[in-house]
Amino acid sequence: MHDETLAIHGSYTPDSTRAVAVPIYQTVAHEFTDADHAGAIMDLETPGFHYNRINNPTVDVLEQRLTALEGGVGAMAVSSGSAAVSMSVLNLLSAGDNLVSVPQLYGATYTYFAHVLPRLGVEVRFAADDRPDSIAARIDERTKAVFCETVGNPAGNVIDLTAVAEVAHARGVPVIADNTVATPFMLKPFRHGADVVIHSLTKFIGGHGTTLGGIIIDGGTFPWADHPDRFKLMVEPEPAFHGVRYAIDFADTAYVTRCRTIGLRNTGASLSPFNAFLLLQGLETLAVRLPRHEANTRAVASFLASDPRVSSVSFLGFADNPYHELGRRYLGDRVPSIMTFTVHGGRDAGIAVFNQVKLFKRLLNMGDAKSLITHPASTTHRQLTPDDLKLAGITPDMVRLSVGLEHPDDLIEDLDQALAVAAAG
Ligand SMILES: Cc1ncc(COP(=O)(O)O)c(C=O)c1O
Repeated sequence: MHDETLAIHGSYTPDSTRAVAVPIYQTVAHEFTDADHAGAIMDLETPGFHYNRINNPTVDVLEQRLTALEGGVGAMAVSSGSAAVSMSVLNLLSAGDNLVSVPQLYGATYTYFAHVLPRLGVEVRFAADDRPDSIAARIDERTKAVFCETVGNPAGNVIDLTAVAEVAHARGVPVIADNTVATPFMLKPFRHGADVVIHSLTKFIGGHGTTLGGIIIDGGTFPWADHPDRFKLMVEPEPAFHGVRYAIDFADTAYVTRCRTIGLRNTGASLSPFNAFLLLQGLETLAVRLPRHEANTRAVASFLASDPRVSSVSFLGFADNPYHELGRRYLGDRVPSIMTFTVHGGRDAGIAVFNQVKLFKRLLNMGDAKSLITHPASTTHRQLTPDDLKLAGITPDMVRLSVGLEHPDDLIEDLDQALAVAAAG
């Protein structure tokens, strides 16, 4: 099936009620038929549900649908995108290990890497920039993964994923790619060498600013058992789960099986069935929402670029954008609907535009049907030092837009009046 069809019908077989919409299985547990059945399910010998911290039938449809859309072998949904970020890396890391990351990251991901993981004895080695050579230079024998956002939020940089995967794989290290901004409709990271894909489902996939969620998808391609010294957690018997050797006992789905049985089972950041249901509603219409997001973003970006009050516009769709060529290579003719701009008058003028908009919502989200505006330096990335901001591709005067689905003329009119107020000081 094509992606548009998968997003609506994928991985759902109605039960005896023949319900057309995926039902919300609002239950904590599922009854075992007998002790043998209980044992077989709990040891993962037979597929099934037992306790909803670990899996749930509604959540399962969402997991399978996104697995199919990304082209992976299995997925695990969690309660937020940040839970997906943290569990995806903790699945591989122990104290003394390191994670290599690009510097252009969503603010909370950056904070988690820069300030939380180090307290657990994990070093996060930020590359000087997002180029494959810079990333390769940070990898050593204690590196357990390379982390990147396929399209950075809010920097808008596009990773040369094939080249990054090449340098990581050459050193026996997997690549974890956050594909939130691009979505699987624009970019499929597994096709370019990523080993694990994560999403904040809160954004474009949910699409309506109502529901937090995240997902970790396993590409099933990384040869853990070929690197037994580096990935002891994958090849040695796991005392926290029946002595399982993930890379051997679950060779095809080792990463996601470990994620569920160790990460989710023990930390409990589960996605509720109701939230999975809402996210499934969003996913059904993603294919038709995205082109409207894109068309509106092109219109808004063109307006801003031609306005003398605006000093710069960073939009992937413009040929002078430094990532335009990489964008063409990885996203084809698609463009994400986040963009940034600065106005003459610097930070104060940028904040004035932020303060003066009437239709754009001032808040910390993206991918909503509603158009949103943020000032990253004072909101999502306010904890970063000036040097770290620069490394993350954020300037103090930068304003970020997530362009929604309204009529573009109304959005332009709103920005026009906000720019007028800002220009008047
Ligand atoms: C690229 C990216 N990854 C992860 C997250 C975290 O997602 P959540 O807010 O669902 O925890 C965000 C949030 O904005 C994001 O933009």
